[in-house]
Amino acid sequence: MQELAWWQRGVIYEIYPRSFQDSSADGIGDLAGIRQRLDYLVDLGVAALWLSPIYPSPMADFGYDIADYCDIDPIFGTLHEFDFMLEEVHRRGLKMILDFVPNHTSDQHPWFLESRSSRDNPKRDWYLWRDQPNNWLSNFGGSGWEHDPTTGQYYYHAFLKQQPDLNWRNPAVRAAMFDILRFWLDRGVDGFRVDVMWLMIKDDEFRDNPLNPSYTPGTPSINRVLPLYNANRPEVHELVAAMRTLIDSYPDRVLIGEIYLPIQQLMEYYGEALTGANLPFNFQLLQCAWSAEAIAQVLSDYDAALPAGAWPNWVLGNHDQPRIASRVGPMQAAVAAMLLLTLPGTITLYYGEEIGMTNVPIAPENVQDPAERNEPGIGAGRDPERTPMQWDATPLAAFTTGRPWLPIAPDHTNANVAAQYREPNSMLALHRDLIRLRNVHPTLIDGKMQSIAAHNNVLRYQRVDANATLLILLNLSHEQVKVDAGGVILKSTHGDRKGENITHSTFLRPAEGLILKM
Ligand code: NOJ
Repeated sequence: MQELAWWQRGVIYEIYPRSFQDSSADGIGDLAGIRQRLDYLVDLGVAALWLSPIYPSPMADFGYDIADYCDIDPIFGTLHEFDFMLEEVHRRGLKMILDFVPNHTSDQHPWFLESRSSRDNPKRDWYLWRDQPNNWLSNFGGSGWEHDPTTGQYYYHAFLKQQPDLNWRNPAVRAAMFDILRFWLDRGVDGFRVDVMWLMIKDDEFRDNPLNPSYTPGTPSINRVLPLYNANRPEVHELVAAMRTLIDSYPDRVLIGEIYLPIQQLMEYYGEALTGANLPFNFQLLQCAWSAEAIAQVLSDYDAALPAGAWPNWVLGNHDQPRIASRVGPMQAAVAAMLLLTLPGTITLYYGEEIGMTNVPIAPENVQDPAERNEPGIGAGRDPERTPMQWDATPLAAFTTGRPWLPIAPDHTNANVAAQYREPNSMLALHRDLIRLRNVHPTLIDGKMQSIAAHNNVLRYQRVDANATLLILLNLSHEQVKVDAGGVILKSTHGDRKGENITHSTFLRPAEGLILKM
């Protein structure tokens, strides 16, 4: 295999720090907790950790409202603890990716406190102030504009009113934010996942968005208008390229963008001559129906749209999306794992998916997520997929000794790391084996995607390079299905059949996936 960068070779593991491991008995995860669990991640075989925000924050949006970009929130630890954790990460050959939130700060950030204090404050133009609101909406419900009585103007916030949007057209904002990137890069951080990359720049004329003719009442109100003027503006690409130049001035770092856009627009974030994000997150599987045909279409479309030389990537879960095991059911969750870990490029895995964690129902009085609080009952809430990691079968799942900030899944007595370690056919074992298989057969990482097809709700594709042809067969149905195929089985989702030689055809059991060497 040609020399690949670490972020091309390895699997990225997303940690939601509040929910991974508590070491201080306050019921909220922290950095020391993460440090204590690093050997688990090494054993799982992932290459890098991406941490959702750990900076000082009033936690209106659980850390995505940052009040100081160059420190650690006391809930999570200290800068000293961060350095220690980073050292331990690197000592194990792992990499560390931080979340960078450039679109907005907290309303408690000193910049915003200054900005809102008077119309002629030097930081006034660091945010987006207008005499009158336009029709841009907040992603968390209602208008995107908040009236500020001190100065009688409105400021724009794409998310909560506690998250005012920065004005990236102002060079001083850019300089200050780039200094923050350098602060962490100098500390040894290996890259960034950039929050809402496609929202960073807005129309300079603040034109009204067109109404969405196909809006369905009862779905999130943000969809009432089409985000023509406050998202994916052409000027954003120059900004992404500038970020990339900065990142590339340090050796061996990675720039990842969170981008929810259709495939063609997503691809533009690789940038002119690949000068944009290394990995514009590919969320196509998150919204796709769980059928062989629909997925085959996504795989072909993505492969066809990928610019020459661009490195693909795939995501099946994150802290904003329902758990895959709840979306497709426990049996198909294993098929989903085999799908994800046999796709080309960089794979991102959300914590807990490797043990089949499911959405945990949250009683109305326990709701934490502002998305759910603002627009209750329409499925906007993200608490269900943010519940504590399930380490063992004890009442608090070995996550904390305090009162967990979100409830622990009732099924944690079965679905937990300790139990699945002992069980050779567990989800955990499947993930570990599939990740190892990517390393043993690098064709799974950088081989071509070929012969994608769907038939009888079986999805098949080949991964091909000069060394090997691997055939992947995924039964998305709950029936036994006969398939034409030939080769030696490297792996079944069901744990058995390894080494079985198939000459012409075979049967896939319900929800069985196979990897064959042809
Ligand atoms: C995207 C993040 O993933 C989400 O959790 C957050 O609420 C918004 N951006 C606002 O930062």
